Amino acid sequence: MSTNDLYQDRRIILAPMAGVSDDAFREICLSFGAQLTYTEMVSAKALSYGNVKTRDLLALAPSEDKVAVQIFGHEPDTMANEAYELEQAMGDAIFSIDINMGCPARKIAGKGDGSALMRDPVLAAKIVSAVENKVAAPVTVKMRRGFEMGHETAPELAHIVEGSGAAAVAVHGRFAQQFYQGDACWDTIARVKERVSIPVVGNGDITSGARAKAMLEQTGCDAIMVGRGAEGNPWIFTDIKAVLEGSEVPTAPSASERIDIALKHARMLADQYDDNIVKMRKHAMWYLRGLRGATKARRAINDAVTYDDFARIFQEVLELQDQPEASKVEENR
Ligand SMILES: Cc1cc2nc3c(=O)[nH]c(=O)nc-3n(C[C@H](O)[C@H](O)[C@H](O)COP(=O)(O)O)c2cc1C
Repeated sequence: MSTNDLYQDRRIILAPMAGVSDDAFREICLSFGAQLTYTEMVSAKALSYGNVKTRDLLALAPSEDKVAVQIFGHEPDTMANEAYELEQAMGDAIFSIDINMGCPARKIAGKGDGSALMRDPVLAAKIVSAVENKVAAPVTVKMRRGFEMGHETAPELAHIVEGSGAAAVAVHGRFAQQFYQGDACWDTIARVKERVSIPVVGNGDITSGARAKAMLEQTGCDAIMVGRGAEGNPWIFTDIKAVLEGSEVPTAPSASERIDIALKHARMLADQYDDNIVKMRKHAMWYLRGLRGATKARRAINDAVTYDDFARIFQEVLELQDQPEASKVEENR
C-alpha cells in the first residue's frame, strides 16, 4: 500500500487519549463509526522493563482489527527495539507505530519525551528513522503546532520526519505551551499539508460532523481525528460519517440511548476490571452531561465503584427524564 492510501478506508479517527481511550471506549466508538483508533500512549522505556500494566494498555478491543499503537520516549534505540517487540507480539493488528511528539504534560515533556521532541528535530528525525528501520508497519508521528507559544514548527518538523521515513503525520493545531487553551489553528494543518506529500491527519476542536467536514475542506487534510468531542459522545462518529457521506444526519441520542451506552461501557469495564470501575466515573459524567439531574448525580458518581453503583445512578437520572418538561435532552453535539 502506498503511504498516500494509508487512510483510504479509515478517515474518521478516534484520537489517543491517555486515561480515556482504553479498549472499552474504543469498542464503543468503533460501533458508532470510528474507522481507526489509537491505543493510549505507552512508554517505550516501561515496555523495555517488561512493565505488565503498560502491556495492558495495548489490549485490543473485540472488534478492533487494527490499532495504531502510540509510543513515547526519546531514546531512538529503545523506541526502535520496543516497536519491534510490539510488532512481534501484535503482528497484523498494528495499523501503525505512532510516535508521540505532542504531549505537553510536564512529567512527559520535562523528560525530553512527547512535545519536547518538537524542540529537537534532529533527535525527532533519528527516532523516526530508527523505528522505521526496525518495523514493517508504517511509522507515523503525532505532533502539535510547535512547542513555544507563537513559534510554529509543525510544517518544518513534518517535512523532516517525512524525510526520515514517516508514513503520515497527525497535527493538533495548538502549541504545547498552550496545553488545551484557545482555539486550535487549522491553518497550521493546511501549511503542513502544503509542506509534505505524506498524508496529514487534522486534529483539534472537531465537535460535530459539520466541523469534521470543515476541517477536511479548509485544510485539505486526508483524515480527521476526534478527541474530546467523543467523550461521552460516541454518536459524533455517526454524525461525521453521515455528513461526509452526504446522508441524513441522525438526530441527537435520547436520554435512554445515552444511558444504554453508558451501561454497556460500564459492563465492559466491570468484566475487565473485576467490577472495580473507578475509571468509569469520568465517562459517566460525560454521558450524563446536559441531562436533568446530572449535576446532582455527580456527587454519587464520585463515590461509585461497581457496575451496580453506576447502574443505580443512571436509573435515577433516567427516571427524572420521564417528567414531561424534563424530557428534552440538552444538545451537546
Ligand atoms: C485526556 C486526554 C488525554 C490525551 N492523551 C493523549 C495521548 O496519550 N497521546 C496523544 O498523542 N495525545 C493525547 N491527547 C491529545 C489528543 O489526542 C488530541 O490531540 C487533543 O485532545 C486535541 O483534539 P480535540 O480537540 O479533538 O480534543 C490527549 C488529550 C486529552 C484531552
